[in-house]
Formats: sequence, C-alpha cells, structure tokens
Amino acid sequence: MKILVTGGAGFIGSNFVLDWIAGENSLLINLDKLTYAGNLGNLASLKDDARHIFVQGDINDRALVATLLERHRPWAVVHFAAESHVDRSIHGPADFVQTNIVGTFALLEAARAYWSTLNESEKSRFRFLHVSTDEVYGSLGVDDPPFTENSPYAPNSPYAASKAASDHLVRAYHHTYGLPALITNCSNNYGPYQFPEKLIPLVTINALQGKPLPVYGDGGNVRDWLHVGDHCAAVRLALKKGPAGATYNIGGGFEKTNLEVVEAICGIVDELNPRGAPHAKLISFVKDRPGHDRRYAINSSKITAELGWRPAKQFEEGLRQTVRWYAEHLEWVNGVMSGAYRDWMNINYRKR
Ligand code: NAD
Ligand code: TYD
Repeated sequence: MKILVTGGAGFIGSNFVLDWIAGENSLLINLDKLTYAGNLGNLASLKDDARHIFVQGDINDRALVATLLERHRPWAVVHFAAESHVDRSIHGPADFVQTNIVGTFALLEAARAYWSTLNESEKSRFRFLHVSTDEVYGSLGVDDPPFTENSPYAPNSPYAASKAASDHLVRAYHHTYGLPALITNCSNNYGPYQFPEKLIPLVTINALQGKPLPVYGDGGNVRDWLHVGDHCAAVRLALKKGPAGATYNIGGGFEKTNLEVVEAICGIVDELNPRGAPHAKLISFVKDRPGHDRRYAINSSKITAELGWRPAKQFEEGLRQTVRWYAEHLEWVNGVMSGAYRDWMNINYRKR
C-alpha cells in the first residue's frame, strides 16, 4: 500500500513522512526538488529505512512523475510541494506560479494518466490529496465568523493566489475527469523542522541568539495556530476516510495576535536563558507587509463531524515544546542558516 508524497523534505511534508512511516509501516516515495526549503536533515532518522524512497526531482517533470507512478503503483498522491512563504511571493512571484500552479497542473496530468490505467476498484480507492491553505479565503474582520468550506475564495498575496489557482485545478480534475481528489485548507502550522523564515521559528531563533525580533506593522494581525502533528493527523484521516471530491478546513482554533505569539516566545526563552531576560526588549516594530491580511480563522466543524478529527495540542504547550526543540537542535538550525538564508534576511528586512 504505497503512497507518493511531494514536498516531503519540507516542514509539514517531513513531519507527515515521519508520522506516516511510524504509524503505517508501509512504503512511501518522497519526491522533492530540495529547494532552499527542502532539507534531508529533517529525515535523517529514515536514512537506512527501506520504507522511505527519496527522489530528488521537480513536480513539473511529468516524465519523472509518470515513471514513479508506473513503477511504484501508489494508491495515493499526497501533494505538499509548494513555494510557501508569502514574503518571498511578494519579492518574486514567478516561482510561485511555476511550482504551485504549473507544477500542480503537471502533477494532476500525470496522476490522471496513471489513474486511467487502473482497474475499477483501484480507481475508486485512488486518492489525490492536495494540501492547501486558509489564505485562499482572504482576510477576516475582527468580528467575522471563521472561514468555512463555503467561504468565497478571495486570495490577496501572490502566494495565496497561486494556491487558490491550484485548488481550482484540483477541483476541476475531480469534477470533469472524476479523479478522486480531495483538498485540505489548513491554518498556520508550527512545530519542529519549520524553515526559520516563518514567524515562530524566526522569532525563536533570533531570541535565542539575542537578535531583534521583527514584528510587522502594529503586531495586531491574527493567525489561527495549528500544531503540525495535529495537521498531519488530519491529513492522514482525510486520506483514509474522506470521500472523493471532499474539501476540509483544518484549524487549530488558537487565534492569537502576532504580538501575543512573539511575547509568549520571549517568555519561554526567558526561562531557558534567564541571563538574556527580558527577551521582549528585542521586539522591533518594522514596516508592514504590503497587502498584509489582518486575520485568518478556521471553522473545522466539518472534519470534526465527518471524520472525528479535532486538534489535540494546546497552543501554550505546543509552543513551549517547539521553542525547546529549536533550542535543543542548534545543529539543525545552523545547517539551514546558510549563505542563502542570510541573503533572504537582507532582501526582506534590510529596508524595513
Ligand atoms: P515548505 O516551504 O517548508 O516545504 C516545501 C517543500 O516543497 C520543500 O521541501 C521544497 O523543496 C519542495 N518543493 C518546492 N518546489 C518544488 C517542486 N517544484 N517540485 C518538488 N518539490 C518542491 O512548506 P510547508 O510549510 O511544509 O508547506 C507544505 C504545504 O502546506 C504547502 O503546499 C503549503 O502551501 C501548505 N500550507 C502550509 C502552511 C504552513 O503554515 N506552513 C499553512 C497552510 C498550508
Ligand atoms: P508567516 O509565518 O510568514 O505566515 P503567513 O504569512 O503565511 O501567515 O507570518 C505569520 C504572521 O507573522 C503574519 O501576520 C506576518 C507576521 N510576521 C512578522 O510580523 N514578522 C516576521 O518577521 C514574519 C516572518 C512574519
């Protein structure tokens, strides 16, 4: 019972791969281009594990994807591969169009061709699960109810627009060709192995190193935080139990302003490193992100009602474990903070 995962060397993908192999004990083919965000160090514990087959390659390489599908005959494709950082999409949207839209299209074409060769029972068992984001729904006002699966699409950043486009393609492949596809739209993930360009690992590592903690605008933007382990459990469940054509919103239910998150991280780092306390003195309000969405919040009641999923991790506990994880994995941290990382910090923060 093999599956093909794309983007399995990234943050969520690698957490999913580790979780899936530990839980399912079955073979998994991991196709990842290893962009700046992909890191085989995340999968070091699988180095000699025959259940994990890693292939470095691009989802745009249709011939490669076709070969992998024909050779391994998976019953599912779980699609995490993407350019995933909003700020990078503002500085350079082209890669987002190429991977998130054109790449998803290439993957869908390869999956459709392979799926059409299956017998009827294999066809109905097959799944293409597309991992997407709540950012496709745009921004909420303070008093708006959280996004549901019926919220209209209104993407605001090039990243969100590229994910929205890919969601529409996946939907159309189900509707038009009958490809048994599902879409999951989740809120902001946090946890181990997240590339330190995103808020929580960036602020954690900067605080541990006594560097400024950049907060965009007034710090009042709200995100709904979901622990990556809870997200992986939801994806696993949707893959196994979700009907073809379903879409599920997946949220942690912990709405926090960015300032609340940054202050909470500072409090945890104060305990770990009392000599640098209070780390909140490192907070630095910087120029806002253009088009910055004010608030995201997810209503997860559909996946709870249909599949019995609910987030298990409390934010305070998950954040504490996450901050500790970065503090205890300095080798991993130093490994990802390469010259390319320093270049990005220059591009995004120098003129703020
Ligand atoms: P990430 O940036 O950490 O990892 C992306 C992975 O995809 C990397 O390993 C990269 O090498 C790989 N990749 C990029 N382009 C590729 C290509 N053309 N071919 C093959 N591999 C390629 O991203 P993440 O945070 O793990 O996000 C995974 C998925 O979840 C994405 O689709 C993202 O849109 C979605 N998502 C993420 C969040 C979040 O909070 N991180 C929230 C909602 C949705
Ligand atoms: P981020 O982790 O980039 O995720 P997303 O933009 O997909 O929600 O950012 C989370 C929030 O934190 C978002 O409102 C932007 C803000 N932010 C900062 O204030 N400072 C930073 O240095 C970064 C990277 C993000």
